[in-house]
Order: sequence, then C-alpha cells, then structure tokens
Amino acid sequence: MTPKCAVIQGDVLEVLRSFEDNTFGAVITDPPYASGGLHAKDRQATTAAKYTKNKTKNPLPNFEGDSKDQLSWMLWCVAWLREAKRVCKKGAPICVFIDFRQLDALKWAMQWADWLVNGIVVWDKTEIVRPQRGRFRSQCEFIIWGSKGAMSLKRKVPVLKGCYRYSTLNRGKLHQTQKPLALMRDIVRIVEPGETILDPFAGSGTTLVAALQEGYSAVGIEVTKEYATIAQKQIDTLSQTSPTNNREVTM
Ligand SMILES: C[S@@+](CC[C@H](N)C(=O)[O-])C[C@H]1O[C@@H](n2cnc3c(N)ncnc32)[C@H](O)[C@@H]1O
Repeated sequence: MTPKCAVIQGDVLEVLRSFEDNTFGAVITDPPYASGGLHAKDRQATTAAKYTKNKTKNPLPNFEGDSKDQLSWMLWCVAWLREAKRVCKKGAPICVFIDFRQLDALKWAMQWADWLVNGIVVWDKTEIVRPQRGRFRSQCEFIIWGSKGAMSLKRKVPVLKGCYRYSTLNRGKLHQTQKPLALMRDIVRIVEPGETILDPFAGSGTTLVAALQEGYSAVGIEVTKEYATIAQKQIDTLSQTSPTNNREVTM
C-alpha cells in the first residue's frame, strides 16, 4: 500500500477528539517544551527570543503553546496524552521529545495518562551547541518512550540504538525548533511496518517527512497556521519526488 499523509491545522485536543478509538500505530512527537524560564515574563517571551540565536535576521514565525508554567503544562500534557492513547492501537509505541527541565514533568504526565513508560533515549546535539566556560555543555535533549500497555517482543522492528548523535540545523531551517530529518528517520523505526504514525505537534512536518521516507503513513496536527502550511508544502514536494526510500531492516 502506498503511504499516505495528512496535515490538519487545528488545536491538538479538538482534533484528537474527532478521531476514532484504536486508529494509529504510534505517536512520535515534539511538543512545545514551555521550559523557557522560571518567571512569567521569561516564559511569555516570543519563541524567537527563546529559541533562535539571531533574533533580528531570523524571519521564522513564532509558534503557539510555549508560555505555560510547569504545572499547567503538565496538566495539559496529561489531557493530550490521554486522547492520544485512546486513538492508538493496543501496544502502540510513543516517543516524545523533551529537554532536561521538563523531563520529570513529562514522565509523570505520560504515566498519569496511563502510558507505560519504557525508557529514555538521548539525542546528542554534538559540540555545535553554545559552550559556556566552567559549565557542562548543554548538549543533549531526550526522548521519553513508552507504549499503550505491553509491547510484544515479536513486533517486526530491529534493535534500535539508545543514543543518537546529530547536530541541529544552523541554516535552511523551516521551524525555530526543527528536528534533524536523519534523527527522525531513526526514531520512527520503532514503529511496525505498514502502520500510521500520529504527530500531534507537527511543526514544519519533519516527523511526517521521515515517516513517509521510511515507508509509513502519517497524520500531523499543527495549530500555528504558517507551520501547518509549511508542513503541507513539505509533504507535497516529497510526493512529487520519490516519497519512500526504505532501509533494509536488520532484526
Ligand atoms: C517543538 S515544535 C515542533 C517542531 C517539529 N518537530 C519540526 O521539526 O518542525 C511544536 C509545535 O507544536 C505546535 N503547537 C503548540 N500548541 C499546539 C496545540 N495546542 N495544538 C497543536 N499544535 C500545537 C506549535 O505551533 C509548534 O509548531
């Protein structure tokens, strides 16, 4: 079957509520971390101020959902994670990106929403990240992964690494917090062949492109109009070229 992809512009909770139970084979996503500061003033700064190095030259649009305090963010995560679980099939994997500040809150939210938390994968962003004298380099982000109930050991998925090393993009970015495509292509491989991957925070569509390139179907939700348009363009461009480029699966 040819992999298919849809981008839906809207709020995560509203869109998830419109889906049937047990529809998706996985959730792979990168939500707004809302970890930009201790005080309301810092958190409410634009996402460009929080996440882009060159504030004047970078024309990328700001994105929504990044100014909640930690408790509100955790409760909101519980709400979308519960809906995401409802729309997933039994045993479906979930992978959620996060930084060190919100690591605990996300782990609690996932458990509160009844996902089984299975572990943490490290994304090593390499030495490209800004060094600060006398400090450890803030070089890693994390992916908390789990499943909707137990995951069968008989799934047609190879052994995957627990740590991935890819630098962040420093030019040609389509989103302020865009993830490297090669990283996302590695992460989606946790999903069984033939399944449909749900990304409730699609941004510029990196997960969706990675899913298609690895031979999966995908559905993305994105509330910020500009980014929903960018994600749709990415998908359209890919479907005009060659969408899938399956790798050999070594079990
Ligand atoms: C961290 S970014 C995702 C970036 C993406 N991984 C990429 O590579 O482009 C999170 C995205 O979630 C979106 N978002 C925030 N709140 C949302 C909501 N309530 N419903 C749907 N999307 C939301 C933001 O607009 C933002 O684009």
